[in-house]
Amino acid sequence: MKFLFFLAGLASLGQLVANNINWVAVGQRVLPQTLADAAPFPIGFAVNPAKLLNNAPYQQTVTQEASSVTADVAMKPSRISPQKGAYNFELADQLVEFARAQKKRLHGHTLVWYIDTSPNWLKQIRDSTELETTLQAYIQTVGAHFKGKVASWDVVNEAVDNQGVIRKDSLNTLGKTLFNVGKILGNDYVARMFQYAHQADPTAKLFYNDYGQETRPAKLDAIVKMATNYKRRGIPIHGLGLQMHMSIDTPEAGIENAIRKLAETGLLIHISELDIALNPGKKKDFVVTSELLEKQYQKYKFVVSTYKKWVPIGQQFGITLWGVDDGTSWIPGFCQCADAALPFDASFAKKRAYQGFLEGLK
Ligand code: G3I
Repeated sequence: MKFLFFLAGLASLGQLVANNINWVAVGQRVLPQTLADAAPFPIGFAVNPAKLLNNAPYQQTVTQEASSVTADVAMKPSRISPQKGAYNFELADQLVEFARAQKKRLHGHTLVWYIDTSPNWLKQIRDSTELETTLQAYIQTVGAHFKGKVASWDVVNEAVDNQGVIRKDSLNTLGKTLFNVGKILGNDYVARMFQYAHQADPTAKLFYNDYGQETRPAKLDAIVKMATNYKRRGIPIHGLGLQMHMSIDTPEAGIENAIRKLAETGLLIHISELDIALNPGKKKDFVVTSELLEKQYQKYKFVVSTYKKWVPIGQQFGITLWGVDDGTSWIPGFCQCADAALPFDASFAKKRAYQGFLEGLK
């Protein structure tokens, strides 16, 4: 008899493995384990509110796996204020409602961003006084609207260039005109944006957010220096966002160095936009192989365990994945190539990367 139960147990275990679900024994019961359950800090996804409404597996994955959400686009200036003086909070408010109903933390992204998502009307302002008062009014209006609804904001996104200098150039590598707020307002504008955000919502945790800190030491050092300077001057900065759009080839030493150095500032640390590309060379004939998925598993495990290792518990703001699944990830559209950078595939099945994330949490 005991043997029959053993066989039945093996069969159902096989089914669980086949279903690609992680299970954890709790007393006599066996429960599925999600990232949010397993993590001692918040786990987030960047989400599109429309997909949360219309795409059932997308919504289910976020509901089950996340404890925090960030809007991928819906809370950017281009979406909230496409015309001067006009504000449209409809889409963002859908996310506020989702976060409230599902008891998820909502991280605001982003108040000021130089890149082409800033609305055209804002990019055309050249006068420093006009730009300063316009940004101040924008931050006050948006900060007040979301007061008590967002836990935190990326106040300024990507202000530091890859050499560690506040951005002032007029074109990006694709030849697009950028919003040169640093050129018009000077290096210290970032500090003033934090002051405006704090006035608008004194309870929100305020972050500076940037990419490439794991591969560009000059940029990393400049951000640490800026944050340290702000702390000394009493500028209301509470955290640093480490985007971490990386690939399976990103060197581990750089990842560890960035996490460790940012943590030494004493601020909250948010891995704010994590994804790990398999096709950094943007090959047109790229195919996903099990070898690549294994490397991705290792890298997710490394990033998560390194975050746990170096960021003191009181500074662990959490880890946010930039997207939910490979089918809706921003990367293929951006690189015009195939890729699969997230822990869920295009059918929302858990990949080896998911297992790596879970193991990194242990
Ligand atoms: O919604 C329109 C749609 O109506 C239209 O048909 C389509 C045609 O191109 O465009 C759609 O909007 C696109 C939007 O993503 C939809 O999700 C925009 O063109 C496109 O520019 C936008 O890209 C977003 C990008 O930021 C610029 O806002 C990406 O999804 C988003 O993942 C990306 O996120 C950034 C972070 O904010 C900052 N760090 C880097 C990260 C990745 O680039």
